[in-house]
Amino acid sequence: MTTFSLEDRPAVEMVKVSKVYPPDVVALQDVSFSIAKEEIVFLTGMSGAGKTSLLKLICCIERPSKGLIEVAGKDLSRLSAKAIQKLRQEIGVAYQDFKLLQQRTVFQNIAVPMEVTYQPQRAIKQRVDELIDMLNLTEKRNKCVNELSRGEQQRVALARAAANRPPLLLADEPTGNLDNSTSKLVLNLFAYLNQKGTTIMIATHDEAIYRDNNHRVLDLSHGHLTPAVAREP
Ligand SMILES: Nc1ncnc2c1ncn2[C@@H]1O[C@H](COP(=O)(O)OP(=O)(O)OP(=O)(O)O)[C@@H](O)[C@H]1O
Ligand SMILES: [Mg+2]
Repeated sequence: MTTFSLEDRPAVEMVKVSKVYPPDVVALQDVSFSIAKEEIVFLTGMSGAGKTSLLKLICCIERPSKGLIEVAGKDLSRLSAKAIQKLRQEIGVAYQDFKLLQQRTVFQNIAVPMEVTYQPQRAIKQRVDELIDMLNLTEKRNKCVNELSRGEQQRVALARAAANRPPLLLADEPTGNLDNSTSKLVLNLFAYLNQKGTTIMIATHDEAIYRDNNHRVLDLSHGHLTPAVAREP
């Protein structure tokens, strides 16, 4: 049973959340929002606006200085270390700096979340190869990550985040190193995962990936969420 499956609550909720890095760097201030289950939401804002900090709070890499954070209806401040560990296994994270195992192959990197949750080898092979094909990495399947371009590594990071079909996927600047047609492969992957029930938050500078769809945009400016602006239809 997953943490997410029991709850009919927002996937993510923040109420008046602030994050201060010691001694005095205010990364987020008074941030409140709610993300429904199975929504796709873009998180935008200039460099340094607080996007990565916000995603790190949701996946419990960082703790808030103030405020309430609920994920799948669970108040993160009340979870035991074990419950946090379980929750983190249910959140797929594609990090801005990838965090790949450089000496391992593409296949091995993408398989990691499935290995650590003891999925059967046959299921791992099928899922990893499906993601490799969707992201046009077939020729690189058995290459070591340290032989890949940045854009290829970025896609490996995304595939790894998606491997376990997480109920919540956080993608930090997922198209930062990609050309337009490769970005489309990534957007297709998001649409496919979302159809299967995954809630997705995408931090991005890349206007091209959010201007042509109707998904909600949360815009951060100097750690504050800017009031929602009506979007052109
Ligand atoms: N570990 C840290 N320690 C101290 N300050 C930090 C730390 N991480 C981020 N910051 C600061 O917090 C603020 C927000 O940073 P964050 O990485 O969240 O921005 P961002 O919107 O993701 O930027 P970018 O678009 O460049 O990735 C910045 O002023 C940054 O310097
Ligand atoms: Mg960032």
